[in-house]
Amino acid sequence: MKAIVYERTGDPSVLQLVDRPVPEPGPGEVLVRLAVSGVNPTDWKARRQWPLPQGWQTPGQDGAGVVEAVGGGVDADLVGERVWLWEAAWQRPWGTAAEYTVVPVRQAVPLGDASFDLGACLGIPFLTAHRCLTAGEYMPERLHPGALSDHVVLVQGGAGAVGNAAIQLARWADACVVATVSSPEKAQLAAAAGASFVVDYQRQDVVEEVRKIAPDGVHTIVEVSAARNAAVDVQLLRSGGAVCVYADDGGDEVTLPIRPLMVPNARWQFVLVYTEPKAAKAQALVDVAAAVAQGGVRVGVEAGLPLHRYPLADTAAAHQAVEDSVVGKVLVSTAEE
Ligand SMILES: NC(=O)c1ccc[n+]([C@@H]2O[C@H](COP(=O)([O-])OP(=O)(O)OC[C@H]3O[C@@H](n4cnc5c(N)ncnc54)[C@H](OP(=O)(O)O)[C@@H]3O)[C@@H](O)[C@H]2O)c1
Repeated sequence: MKAIVYERTGDPSVLQLVDRPVPEPGPGEVLVRLAVSGVNPTDWKARRQWPLPQGWQTPGQDGAGVVEAVGGGVDADLVGERVWLWEAAWQRPWGTAAEYTVVPVRQAVPLGDASFDLGACLGIPFLTAHRCLTAGEYMPERLHPGALSDHVVLVQGGAGAVGNAAIQLARWADACVVATVSSPEKAQLAAAAGASFVVDYQRQDVVEEVRKIAPDGVHTIVEVSAARNAAVDVQLLRSGGAVCVYADDGGDEVTLPIRPLMVPNARWQFVLVYTEPKAAKAQALVDVAAAVAQGGVRVGVEAGLPLHRYPLADTAAAHQAVEDSVVGKVLVSTAEE
């Protein structure tokens, strides 16, 4: 099979297209013939920094394809099932930038009739968004239509991949969603994702605008840039509200005023999708699969997430695009043309 491999960390030039044997699924694993690999910022951050205990790595946490074979102890009926994969390359060398990969069966979720493009966009962004929407003290543990019908959610960075997922999941769960963006073009994307209100943080006063929509403040803030937005977030939390911080874009330290956060019993919740509590991850998998099955989440420019496609051989360019903060979602086509 063709696979992208790197044997040392570094810039995108370390990514090599190689021929290698199709891997055998071990006990509890499935072999998946990939159609699409989704690229996330974590893939280039890993390529630059993470150690390589096996001496090599195929990048790519997310992807979608068809189960080709199963290892010992796995139901053989899964062969032929269309699936989406999550965390394929977390503490494993077999990522999704390849024609085939092997994952523990739990990490291959039935996709039904949904597109491989959608399947390849789900893992990192939607599981992270789910955690951010459910970690607050007064948020439900499960998402489903109606689950957030009394809730106001603020998504900072609504044109980002995680921001888009947060808007879509929250709207599917019937929340009122306010999203912030930095330009009119990004405002269109956040609106296409389903945001009820969009605020341009470069041109408008976010506190003033959100207070008009939610005079008592918001229940949860899905936060991409805590360092830059902390002062705004503090003013917008309602009693018992939570700021769910999933990234350090724009700065990796934050200063918080204690008393204004004590009074409303506010929560600052840090989120890393790989290490989130197991029960929360299990629930996220169920809920995201249900949202997909119900047509509650989509991808593409009409869903606020423009797609950018690269062939497998150009995975380095795909990584560079994500590293350069391309707007939308980068996909690598892994099936032979
Ligand atoms: N903790 C986790 O488990 C986890 C999971 C997934 C991703 N992440 C991290 O989350 C970050 C975003 O990932 P992504 O895939 O969504 O990237 P992305 O598609 O590039 O989106 C990032 C978005 O953040 C916006 N943004 C940046 N600064 C902002 C600010 N001060 N206020 C509001 N919006 C702001 C950007 O737009 P503007 O700059 O134009 O506003 C952009 O739309 C990355 O650092 C990634 O590594 C973490």
